Amino acid sequence: MTNYATQKKIPATLIPGDGIGPEIVDVVERVFDALGNPFTWEKHQAGMNALETSGDLLPATTLDSIRRTGLALKGPLTTPIGGGFRSVNVRLRETFQLYANVRPARTIVPGGRYENIDLVLVRENLEGLYVGHEHYVPIDGDPHAVAMATGINTRAGSRRIARFAFEYAVRNNRKKVTIVHKANVLKALTGLFLETAQQIGAEYADRLEINDRIVDACAMQLVLNPWQFDVIVSTNLFGDILSDQIAGLVGGLGMAPGANIGEDAAIFEAVHGSAPDIAGKGMANPTALLLAAALMAEHKGLDKEGAILRNAIDAVLSTESGRTVDLGGKISTSKFGDLLIERIRDSQK
Ligand code: NAI
Repeated sequence: MTNYATQKKIPATLIPGDGIGPEIVDVVERVFDALGNPFTWEKHQAGMNALETSGDLLPATTLDSIRRTGLALKGPLTTPIGGGFRSVNVRLRETFQLYANVRPARTIVPGGRYENIDLVLVRENLEGLYVGHEHYVPIDGDPHAVAMATGINTRAGSRRIARFAFEYAVRNNRKKVTIVHKANVLKALTGLFLETAQQIGAEYADRLEINDRIVDACAMQLVLNPWQFDVIVSTNLFGDILSDQIAGLVGGLGMAPGANIGEDAAIFEAVHGSAPDIAGKGMANPTALLLAAALMAEHKGLDKEGAILRNAIDAVLSTESGRTVDLGGKISTSKFGDLLIERIRDSQK
């Protein structure tokens, strides 16, 4: 095992979050202890806990910590309904210009609807229809007679996400990148994205197979033959929809990690929410957050730690006695953590 006591540890912000967040973050902390503590965690609040103690869902101290570390692992946050609160996730993306959202989906528990799924969706995270330029046009006393939304894609933004996706594919020994768009109808908005991605792709033609798909055809193909895809790159809204579809191929959101990456900061998270229905009951499955932590380790070049963690997760989940309730098993969140730690210690003997 690497001795991090004598090496420089990597500072990282750790946000426990709400609901099941603290329970699953506790497992991550214990597992990283077993991995030799490559990170020094700066623990900060966001979400409902933060709102109660500091009056802000995203306190300045938390933002300052991420600014300092450039790296964060975030538990799920409850979004209060009503009251005009802006989504913390959108605020984080905009503040740190986290332009790339990476969602890998890989089959871990066998026996599901699809076997051997292993694909990655790269979603543009800041542009498109998510810019939120919306308004109503009143007609004849109906204030909401017409609703309008404007999407914005830029050449620079399309170039940046395309380059990210191709570089990601090369670095991770992927073979193929599919550009997903709707350029037959949204000719300007997604035509610009397609054209730019193809131009950047030409620089990678010697290393990658590159093709494109219209989003509706892609959605159908993902159901009929998901194995034909390797890396998918798409605009914000299509990426949002397809990434949940892809999570469905590998057993749902409980197994899906996500990374939000910018030039100066990267924030890693589970894709699921705070699961208030099971919070505090020891029923939460920490796998998605652990996989997010593995992505974070790999993002910082800790490939060995990432691999040990992934192998331990695969090994524990491959046995029925190693599964939490959502996967049809019986063990608690913390017992799952204990089994992982045993595996990690065994692999280091
Ligand atoms: P959810 O993902 O929290 O829960 C949906 C269902 O999946 C629930 O039955 C829950 O028990 C189950 N589930 C989720 N994660 C699980 C896990 N790790 N282990 C076992 N079961 C799990 O979605 P929901 O209920 O729509 O949202 C709850 C809150 O979370 C809302 O306030 C929502 O805004 C917030 N949210 C936050 C996200 C984030 O911080 N990234 C993402 C999605 C929702």
